[in-house]
Amino acid sequence: MPAEIISGTALADDILKEARQKISSLGEKPSLAILMVGDDNASKMYAQMKQRVCAMAGINPQWWQFRENAREQEVIDKIQLLNADKGTNGILVQLPLPQSMDRNNILRSISPAKDVDGLTPLNLGLLALGVEGLVSCTPLGIIKLIESTGAKIEGKNCCIVNHSVLIGRPLSQLLLNRNATVAVCHKFTKNLSEFTQKADILITAAGVPGLITREMVKGGAIVIDAGIARKDGRVSGDVDFDGVKEVAGFITPVPGGVGPMTIACLILNTVKAAEIQRK
Ligand code: GUN
Repeated sequence: MPAEIISGTALADDILKEARQKISSLGEKPSLAILMVGDDNASKMYAQMKQRVCAMAGINPQWWQFRENAREQEVIDKIQLLNADKGTNGILVQLPLPQSMDRNNILRSISPAKDVDGLTPLNLGLLALGVEGLVSCTPLGIIKLIESTGAKIEGKNCCIVNHSVLIGRPLSQLLLNRNATVAVCHKFTKNLSEFTQKADILITAAGVPGLITREMVKGGAIVIDAGIARKDGRVSGDVDFDGVKEVAGFITPVPGGVGPMTIACLILNTVKAAEIQRK
């Protein structure tokens, strides 16, 4: 029997409805500041999409654009103003940043209470301690996708193909918090299929179309594809969808899987940040 397709688009719509209700009980629209450094086309289009979906969901987006050759301190100065601004509830610095900037210096300057991407040392440290406050949007969206299948995470073998600060590292903590056994793989991993074949839950975000083929997937596994690359002018994930759907139990499509969930979780986090700040 072919795998059941998990629709990130449908789940994201449900989350947006929940967010709209929370926003109406807040009584006031939360505001999210998006800081974009440089003009990388794909990254800017993605950040603009976040801006549009926020506006649709009832959040006031602010757009702060910096030149590619701006100084790191200019960005930090703006973040400090936004930290102090009562009208700003969330702050997101779109990644990646230009090579001339130290990403960690910039992320460290964001107030943890406004850190809707969950990337400040405090929020990442709390996550490692098992406390889930403001958690990175893509990993959070992936957990919600897995949970939507009704499967239990506890005791499962999970394999993540990504070890970045945006996805693999926080996701491994979220899975450990739910008592899974977690293997974190990446481009230096030897014999990747040895790990993927053992996985009851396989999450991949390598940006390599066709990386995961059906022979690499355990029968009945949950396969979550967070890869994004352009292939023949189309957006493509890491998974050979047609082959893998014949062996997996559940599978996410690209597009329409993890992508919409990341943005929905950003909106949930902005509402959560506004609620935290109100307390
Ligand atoms: N670039 C790609 N994805 C993301 C994300 O979720 N957050 C930020 N800040 N930058 C990104």
